[in-house]
Amino acid sequence: MSDKKNQPDTAGVSRRGFLKGIGVGTVAGGLLSPAGLKEAIAKDSGVQRPGEIPVTLKINGQNRKLNVEPRVTLLDALRNRLDLTGAKKVCDRGTCGACTVLVDGHPVYSCSLLAVEAEGREITTVEGIGTPAKMNEVQKAFVKHDAQQCGFCTPGFVVASTAFVRKHPNATAEEVRRGLGGNLCRCGTYAGMLLAVADAAKAKGGV
Ligand code: FES
Ligand code: FES
Repeated sequence: MSDKKNQPDTAGVSRRGFLKGIGVGTVAGGLLSPAGLKEAIAKDSGVQRPGEIPVTLKINGQNRKLNVEPRVTLLDALRNRLDLTGAKKVCDRGTCGACTVLVDGHPVYSCSLLAVEAEGREITTVEGIGTPAKMNEVQKAFVKHDAQQCGFCTPGFVVASTAFVRKHPNATAEEVRRGLGGNLCRCGTYAGMLLAVADAAKAKGGV
């Protein structure tokens, strides 16, 4: 009597052969634990976990040495490794500007720059821009115009505004509005901030 179940189908593969194939594949897949699979992939591709590497960051005029994994952002390095918490982590995706620092004098979202990429550059955080005892013109103007509510966005605005005022003394309100378009304030204190930055722009020097 012929074994109908084991007859080749039109594609030339018997049912028994097909089921056997699946079984072998499943067993082979089952032999690899997630850890084993990860190891096998790393072996195949030559990918290695990088680990921490030493970097020296020049921040507010001082060389700071630290060890970081290459994936660590400048923002996380500042806040978590160097205790410089002025730059704030809000969106962590280059949208709000709360993490703004100066890199070689240019405003940069520190959440979008790797710490290792910042090596050899001049980094200035809000802590290096002025102190309560010695505020720069932007900080003084923010105080004068009460340009904040919760204050969470303020360090980013102060840093971005400082860079803006240095580049655009005597800027008009409209220029200030456009110039600070990369920073967001959820409390909506834009009116006070515009006045403050326009004031600081007029004051020139000291920023
Ligand atoms: S936290 Fe960096 S842009 Fe928002
Ligand atoms: S003052 Fe609260 S987010 Fe700007």
